[in-house]
Amino acid sequence: MKILLLGSGGREHALAWKIAQSPKTTKLYIAPGNAGTAEVGENVDIAVNDFDGIAQFVIDYEVDMVVVGPEDPLVHGIANYFAAHDLLKGVPVIGPTREGAQLEGSKDFAKHFMQRHGIPTAAYATFDGTQADEACRYLETLSAPYVLKADGLCAGKGVLIVPTLDEAKAQLRDMLGGRFGTASARVVIEEYMSGIECSVFALTDGRHYLILPEAKDYKRIGEGDTGPNTGGMGSVSPVPFATPEWMQKVEDEIVRPTVEGLAAEGIGYKGFIFFGLMNCDGQPRVVEYNCRMGDPETETVMLRLDADIVELFEGVAAGTLDRCSVKADPRAAVCVMCVSGGYPGSYEKGKEITGTAADGCIVFHAGTALHDGHLVTAGGRVIAVSSYGTTRAEALERAMRGAEGISFEGKYFRRDIGSDL
Ligand code: AMP
Ligand code: GLY
Repeated sequence: MKILLLGSGGREHALAWKIAQSPKTTKLYIAPGNAGTAEVGENVDIAVNDFDGIAQFVIDYEVDMVVVGPEDPLVHGIANYFAAHDLLKGVPVIGPTREGAQLEGSKDFAKHFMQRHGIPTAAYATFDGTQADEACRYLETLSAPYVLKADGLCAGKGVLIVPTLDEAKAQLRDMLGGRFGTASARVVIEEYMSGIECSVFALTDGRHYLILPEAKDYKRIGEGDTGPNTGGMGSVSPVPFATPEWMQKVEDEIVRPTVEGLAAEGIGYKGFIFFGLMNCDGQPRVVEYNCRMGDPETETVMLRLDADIVELFEGVAAGTLDRCSVKADPRAAVCVMCVSGGYPGSYEKGKEITGTAADGCIVFHAGTALHDGHLVTAGGRVIAVSSYGTTRAEALERAMRGAEGISFEGKYFRRDIGSDL
């Protein structure tokens, strides 16, 4: 089978690594990919939102399946584009339709959906620019801290958690006034949930689903979860509080009602669903949905996913996922992200990367490029180093040793991934 994977981050390198291991894969293309994906497949210089370019490539190279890594092309309707194209409607796209991707593309849609299907989440209300006074009155009924979310896609920056009522009102007016452009034309105000977060992933064919190994990501730049948010500084799988009993609750109260709700509403969904959950005193509640895998969670989940991922994708395409199964590798996996100095603020690119991670580590490139035959940094998050261990501590130790073996000017990584659990 010839597969085209869309995306260029650490998540896509991890997916590519897993897809390349399948005996069913005869050829793997990655568009646009990075220097790491070029080691497991062939990079193609097409942007993820260039649907016409992707279509032409799929036709010319007789690609059998398209796997979508990031949310952007899904929210823009790449699955609908393929389904409506005379020559492409037979080529399966692993990723939901535009309607399904609204689970991530609109916070208001996601909250309404959960309400309709009785899925546990924080209480909320949505307001537009004409309702600022009403929105402020709603804030007064909540207690601190206050959670404000831009309705639309904001590359992970559209959520504010504000300590005081006065500041919340000011921030709210700012958002409704266009702080995040059209994405914050509507703002969701939510009840604050306290607890520990966990990322759960399901793969669905629209009727059946399989639950993949869970993970926890670390978003803050500093050790001890301090400093500004990043795209993710590392991840760990499994998560100790995700016991079989807890995961059963997640399946019964969240995963199954979500898949059944999508089907009942006639929303086409063949792909990954990412459930961002909060464990509130043993009760899982949904913080957010994403219509794709997580990054950097994929860099540990793929290590623990004991299945032929291409067989699973075939099940998704055919609607026969009930005939597939997944097992989780019993070992722990930890991913440590090496980032550029200055990230998530301003940082320089083009720094030469040298060295190799220690034996037993699996290196996933996030922001790298080849420049005149040299490997250089090309983003804030540069290289993820993942490792197995019989314990989480052992996996972390190995991943850190691996991260130490990689050198570039300004390199930084956290040494405490998973040690809070
Ligand atoms: P989201 O993009 O909705 O996942 O929000 C980004 C982050 O903000 C989440 O990963 C949580 O850490 C935090 N967050 C979002 N909503 C809530 C909430 N209702 N209560 C507590 N924390 C939240
Ligand atoms: N790790 C969180 C995300 O991918 O959105």
